[in-house]
Parts: sequence; structure tokens; C-alpha cells
Amino acid sequence: MRLGFSRSRKSIVGMILGFLLFGFIAEVWAGPPLGHGRRFNSRHHQGHHGQGFAGQGICPQGRFTVQAPDDIRNQANPLKPSREVLYSGESLFQVEVQPVACKICHGVNGNGLGIMAQGLNPAPRNFTCEETMKEISDGQLFWVIRNGSQGTGMPPFKNLKDREIWQIIHYLRKFSQPKRQ
Ligand code: HEC
Repeated sequence: MRLGFSRSRKSIVGMILGFLLFGFIAEVWAGPPLGHGRRFNSRHHQGHHGQGFAGQGICPQGRFTVQAPDDIRNQANPLKPSREVLYSGESLFQVEVQPVACKICHGVNGNGLGIMAQGLNPAPRNFTCEETMKEISDGQLFWVIRNGSQGTGMPPFKNLKDREIWQIIHYLRKFSQPKRQ
């Protein structure tokens, strides 16, 4: 009698190890769970043609937006940019915000070229433009999202909770960072 595994047993063991390895890689790739069976790296908010994919947007962008009061302007984002926070921000920006999602004007890619951007003067902010975005504090973003920018196409979003606005702000910041998650 031979000792050790037979050939077929070896290949079965190999297959099982292969599946485990595949499962492990898939698990790492998918990223953490986000509830409702969704995983971070397989979320889809890509939109389709005509929703502001194309182009880089204008950068640097002229900006004449009213300044928020000092106490609000100096507020830092109280949330940590965890994947859950970024995902919530993304969902709000791309889909959930009522009556119109931010992407309709600011574009799926945040480049300011959404479907409703045409004809808006001043143009929607291009969040991918680091030169312009680095000058704008978190508190300023918060204030404009809540109150709108008077005399422009940027409407107020009074029914968003503070927490939701801060989530969106973390997501907006991602657009101007070199590698988007
Ligand atoms: C109907 C079009 C429209 C929608 C919808 C819209 N925006 Fe805007 N947004 C604009 C325009 C136009 C501007 C430029 C305003 C200006 O120059 O003062 C702007 C500017 C901004 C700014 C720049 C503030 C600053 O101080 O420079 C932020 C932040 C912003 N929008 C966030 C959002 C978020 C978040 C949403 C969704 C909750 C949203 N916008 C939805 C049109 C829109």
C-alpha cells in the first residue's frame, strides 16, 4: 500500500484550497458590507450617458459665492470619512436627495457638468477642481448646501439632517483627491 494522498485526492484538496483562496480574494475585493447585502466595492452609482460624465469641467473655476458667517465657516467636519460615511454621502448625492439629486447639476463625476448644468450662470461647482475646492472650508460647504447660494441655481436643502450634509461633504472632497475610492 502506498502512503500519502492519491493523485485524485490531491487534486480535490487543491480544488478546495483554490475555492478558499478565491473566496478570500473576492471577500477582500468586495470591501466591507454596507447593509442590504451591498458591498462597498460593488456599489453602483455610475449613472448613464448625459449625466455629466464627459469632460473635466472648468478649472480653476471663478467663484463669487457669498461667504458663510465665521462661526459656521470655521467648523470642521465632525465625522470621520469611514467607508460607511462615504457611501451614505454618495447615495445622497447621486440618488436620494429630494427634490433633485446633486448629480443632476454637479454631474455624476462631480465635474459640474450635470444634465441641468447647461444654462446655469454661475455654473455648478466643479468638485473635481482641487485649485478651487482647496480654498473652500467644510463649514462653507455645509452652509451653502443647507441655505443655497442666493441668486444662483444652487437651491437650499433645508430637509437634510446635519449628519447627512457632513456625509455628503466627505464624499465631495473625494472628487478632488487623486485616487477616488
Ligand atoms: C439645480 C442645480 C443644482 C442642484 C440640484 C445642486 N446644486 Fe450645488 N450648485 C449649483 C450652482 C449653480 C452652484 C454655484 C453657486 C455659486 O456660484 O454661488 C452650486 C454650488 C454648490 C457648492 C459650492 C459652495 C461654495 O461655497 O462654493 C456646493 C458645496 C454645492 N453646490 C453642493 C450641492 C449639493 C451637496 C447638492 C445636493 C444636495 C447640490 N449642490 C445640488 C447648482 C445646483
